[in-house]
Amino acid sequence: MNTTFNLESLIRPTINALKPYSSARDEFDSNDGKAILLDANESPFYNGLNRYPDPHQRVLKQKLSELKNIPTDRILLGNGSDEVLDLLFRAFCEPNLSSIITLTPTYGMYDVLASINAIENIEVPLSENFNPEVATILKAIKPSTRLLFICSPNNPTGNTFSDESIEQLLNQFNGLVIIDEAYIDFSDKTSWLERLEKFPNLVITQTMSKAWGLAGIRLGFCFSSPEVISVLKKIKPPYNVNELTQQRALKQLNNADVVSVEINTVKQNKAKLINDLNSFSMVEMIAPSDTNFLLVRFLEPHKVYHHLRNNGIIIRNRSTLKGCENCLRITVGTEKENEKLLNSLKTLVV
Ligand SMILES: Cc1ncc(COP(=O)(O)O)c(C=O)c1O
Repeated sequence: MNTTFNLESLIRPTINALKPYSSARDEFDSNDGKAILLDANESPFYNGLNRYPDPHQRVLKQKLSELKNIPTDRILLGNGSDEVLDLLFRAFCEPNLSSIITLTPTYGMYDVLASINAIENIEVPLSENFNPEVATILKAIKPSTRLLFICSPNNPTGNTFSDESIEQLLNQFNGLVIIDEAYIDFSDKTSWLERLEKFPNLVITQTMSKAWGLAGIRLGFCFSSPEVISVLKKIKPPYNVNELTQQRALKQLNNADVVSVEINTVKQNKAKLINDLNSFSMVEMIAPSDTNFLLVRFLEPHKVYHHLRNNGIIIRNRSTLKGCENCLRITVGTEKENEKLLNSLKTLVV
């Protein structure tokens, strides 16, 4: 338990003093459809989308709350989890003064967001087998450090970090610990959601872009204390989750069974892909993966990357990333797609 965490001291003074924008629909929460809405300069002609969406996404949040067993005041929704991550920077990091810690190699957006927001990114490398080195991370913390990003399961390495390491960091770091669980639905490990109430400095992000199969709608979830969520709500754009997204997301959350079948298929396809890739002598290593992708070390990664590209197969070249030398990241596709990938590899002479 972290007893010295003080949220007040983390909030940027500008944000603390901010009077948030109040949208027309903020003051109207009746859903009876009977009110005459002349408050928001919308078109009066009904087409299903002529009204602004619910800025609080009440129906969607209620469904998510039931599904995840988390109260709605601990949930914030964003235009993808990328928006949620950006809101965290803007609420808690003072441009040109604050710093964050990231554990590399990891998801590239943390560094991009740090640059956009003029925040120093202290990069602490993961160990050789891609695990966090707690003592080194704790040593890297500066008085200016506000956020610690833990991507688990990690992109691009695919592995989940141990509960013990993460718990030590939660207990000993007095800033916010963001656990990015974009890939958690593919993993057999337990989400940190179950332990949300135990840690006042814990923020968890998840997304509909991966296992939920809806990268196109842009919907990200953020779970934290009601206090952290209130700060983020204050600065989020009023209508950040559009009506079509809210409707489609709700439909998908009501279809969890279908998604669960898809997740199982991805897991089976991944197991087969690992097996098949291991039969190639050019494959040096496949990192253990709790996700829907594989980080694979090849003898000649550039040759492989370009050969696949010339065959119309696009994968992610991570070979120049520190810690991922000679590695390519391959998303698990359909059975047919994976077969085409393997057939294409067979035609490559290294
Ligand atoms: C670890 C991680 N976090 C977040 C995201 C972004 O998710 P979203 O589509 O919800 O913005 C990605 C996308 O690849 C990711 O790999």
